Amino acid sequence: MSKTYTVEIHHQGGKYTIQVPEEQTVLDAAQASGLSLPNSCNAGICTTCAAQITEGTVEQSDAMGVSAELREQGYALLCVAYPRSDLKVETEKEDTVYQLQFGQFQKKT
Ligand code: FES
Repeated sequence: MSKTYTVEIHHQGGKYTIQVPEEQTVLDAAQASGLSLPNSCNAGICTTCAAQITEGTVEQSDAMGVSAELREQGYALLCVAYPRSDLKVETEKEDTVYQLQFGQFQKKT
């Protein structure tokens, strides 16, 4: 029998609590419950769905769009993130992830 975890999603000032089975991605479960979150490729590449896990752990071995270092800091791609505990998630971290990963290569204007 698969486990189901409670995931609290903070999105655009709202707080949503959903149940996510261990074999479903957080993004899928959110969409299924009527909460539409940013997404595009659904394959762990584009980072449109980037979020920060503030509590708990996810399995996201397909998350190619975020570096191992950022994953350690809790950043996750929800389209390929499977819950491995109850979670708290802050959505819409695409810009933050971009800055952290690529910001150092850009010239400040
Ligand atoms: S939707 Fe592209 S990385 Fe998740």
